[in-house]
Amino acid sequence: MQETRLDIDRIRAARRVIAPVFLDTPLYRCEALEPGLGCAVSIKLETANPVRSFKGRGSELVAHLLTGERAVVCASAGNLGQALAWSGRGRGLDVTVVASRFAPATKLDRIRALGARLELVDGDHELARERAAAIARHDGIRLVEDSLDIETCEGAATIGLELVAAAQPFDAVLIALGGGALATGVGHVLKALAPEVEVICVQPLGAPAMTRSWHERRVVTTDSTDTIADGVAGRYPIPAVLADLLLVADDAVLVQEESITTGMRMLLDHAGLVVEPSAALGIAAIREDRDRFAGRHVVTIVCGGNVDVAAYHRWVGAT
Ligand SMILES: Cc1ncc(COP(=O)(O)O)c(C=O)c1O
Repeated sequence: MQETRLDIDRIRAARRVIAPVFLDTPLYRCEALEPGLGCAVSIKLETANPVRSFKGRGSELVAHLLTGERAVVCASAGNLGQALAWSGRGRGLDVTVVASRFAPATKLDRIRALGARLELVDGDHELARERAAAIARHDGIRLVEDSLDIETCEGAATIGLELVAAAQPFDAVLIALGGGALATGVGHVLKALAPEVEVICVQPLGAPAMTRSWHERRVVTTDSTDTIADGVAGRYPIPAVLADLLLVADDAVLVQEESITTGMRMLLDHAGLVVEPSAALGIAAIREDRDRFAGRHVVTIVCGGNVDVAAYHRWVGAT
């Protein structure tokens, strides 16, 4: 395997730093989902923790390495901000989060409730990234860049270690793709320790920049995004992350919005899980390409559960 920026020993060491509440999350066959999907499906559940997403794994690592610093700033679609607020609070770190004012209210409310300073921009996540960088420069504080900062990838990669240790073998893993920390982290571990597993990234058709970039093997940006999956709606892929993704992903696919809401509905009906749209991308991908997965055992990472209740009811009620 060609070298990515990640390293298995560092990922193993990360487990010693991350609060146990984020580690060793449930991994289980969900037979009730299987008749509707035509394959064996296991869920890796990343929503049952204090911030309801996998981002706590990376934020713990980031905050640990910032011990002794006074302040940190990040841009976030909502989940990293919440996670960094949680990890920073326990370590006396002043956390500033910059987010789009269009982000789900529940994510923004939780960032504030966890004691972070929240600054909203009148634009999308890419504008929030610019603003966070400007704050870091002006205040002379550390900027955390999701997916670029290696700790965010290493934290997510600890999920990969847990998958590799699974009792039941599996054939493929479906990974929601945003900035790429989750996919490059988990993908690196699987390619290093279980190379027979197919690593498939999933993005919405309405936010395809990273997927297109993966297929074209160069950074492709988009002018806008149009998806309910707010956690993965970036427009400017980061070159170093794309380079890693090219080494560890076997495929990257795009799914329709309707499949995402159907996936959310299936996870509610058959798994009893309330998930945010990004966490239903894997189920959406199976639904759109049943033949590809027929007879195989597929793991989907249910990566977040922060969703505005009213919007959730609208989405799952409409399917
Ligand atoms: C719930 C959820 N799923 C998927 C992603 C995408 O992860 P990444 O940006 O590491 O690709 C995010 C990113 O914040 C997220 O919050």
